[in-house]
Amino acid sequence: MPIRLYVFDAYGTLFDVHSAVARHAGEIGPEAARLSDMWRTKQLEYTWVRSLSGRYRDFEALTQEALDYAAARCGGLSPALRASLLAAYAELDAYPDAVPTLDVLRAAGAKTAILSNGTPAMLARAVASAGLADRLDAVLSVHPLRIYKTAPAAYELIEARFGLPPAEVCFLSSNRWDIAGASAFGLRCVWVNRLGLPDEYDELAPAAAVGSLEGLLALEL
Ligand code: LAC
Repeated sequence: MPIRLYVFDAYGTLFDVHSAVARHAGEIGPEAARLSDMWRTKQLEYTWVRSLSGRYRDFEALTQEALDYAAARCGGLSPALRASLLAAYAELDAYPDAVPTLDVLRAAGAKTAILSNGTPAMLARAVASAGLADRLDAVLSVHPLRIYKTAPAAYELIEARFGLPPAEVCFLSSNRWDIAGASAFGLRCVWVNRLGLPDEYDELAPAAAVGSLEGLLALEL
């Protein structure tokens, strides 16, 4: 079954979530890397707890809440620096492999999309600022569902929008937990293991793992 649609996770996969802190690392000081890691870890934890508890709060709010917690653990942030970090998060850098990979896939006739926990407004701004708007057939957000990945309903958004069966869809994420959820749902998954992390979720394995998006182009799926 040929792949007709490539669906990308947004944060961490197309967009470098650590680029916000990196832009202000000098002002933050020696705790910058720890702050960035904790910001991301808490943001994700908040999605799972809100989903399991049936208490949805949108991803923009969770991103702010997670930054405030991380800041409290890492020595605090001035209001101005907090505002700068949130502004930077709204316009994250795309990884350098994002644009070329989308262009190659689209030139080969495939469709491309994002499926993300981000709100539609967050995603629209990030996609536009990174120059991805013309390179995507759809930007799908879980927001209308009021539940986050890895709820199966999140991955169902792909078939609902494109009408393609899971076997004709390749889902890519740098987040191994997201690959586990998409794999459980039945999508053909490629784990973009940008950091060379050890594997986990052994019963929910991807079809392949690559070190960057460019690695996808060499795969036979
Ligand atoms: C996303 C986050 C979870 O874009 O990476 O869905």
